[in-house]
Amino acid sequence: MTGDLFAALRAPAIEPIADGATWLRAYADDDAVALIQAIEQVTTQSPFRQMQTPGGYTMSVAMSNCGELGWVTDRRGYRYQHEDPLLQQPWPTMPGIFLELAVRAAAAAGFNDFLPDACLINRYAPGARMSLHQDKNESDMAQPIVSVSLGLPATFLFGGAERADRPVRMRLESGDVVVWGGPARLRFHGVDTLAQGTHALTGECRYNLTFRKAG
Ligand code: SIN
Ligand code: FE2
Repeated sequence: MTGDLFAALRAPAIEPIADGATWLRAYADDDAVALIQAIEQVTTQSPFRQMQTPGGYTMSVAMSNCGELGWVTDRRGYRYQHEDPLLQQPWPTMPGIFLELAVRAAAAAGFNDFLPDACLINRYAPGARMSLHQDKNESDMAQPIVSVSLGLPATFLFGGAERADRPVRMRLESGDVVVWGGPARLRFHGVDTLAQGTHALTGECRYNLTFRKAG
């Protein structure tokens, strides 16, 4: 009970992580319930699915997308496309609450002209992880990445410009937003294996929304 009370009272805080990278703690707390409802609506249309890597592995994270472009992976490679390959129809429209939050968070981190056309929705069950990678399938590297965490906490790994650089470990809680761009745009990052747990808003999972200007 005390834990829940303190969680509800978590104060927003803006913390620089590196040149171009900012941790907006609790930034999305007030919108969390509405964001999760919108995730449920989007994924009723374009369901979560575990995609294949080009190397033939099934990703542990289940994914969907909304917006004009969606990030996909299969044996042919990583890319953005206008259509959901499962349904062969356009991805669901990006909910207004997603767009508004992403633009506001980018501005709070110093990126004023962010206009995302893609939102990747990641769902982590306990045991799921995402290995270190760079986001580099987007055409305009001047636009930042805005990453929103909801539900179970996770350890985010924020690395350097080289895969071998030792990452900083950040415990991201529900409502935290991380923004990276400019000199940090191509930093390696990933998510450590999600621990078991139950969250009041999402049950046994963590959602992550990653906003990008892809096209
Ligand atoms: C990603 O890099 O696509 C996901 C990051 C996260 O889940 O926090
Ligand atoms: Fe990423």
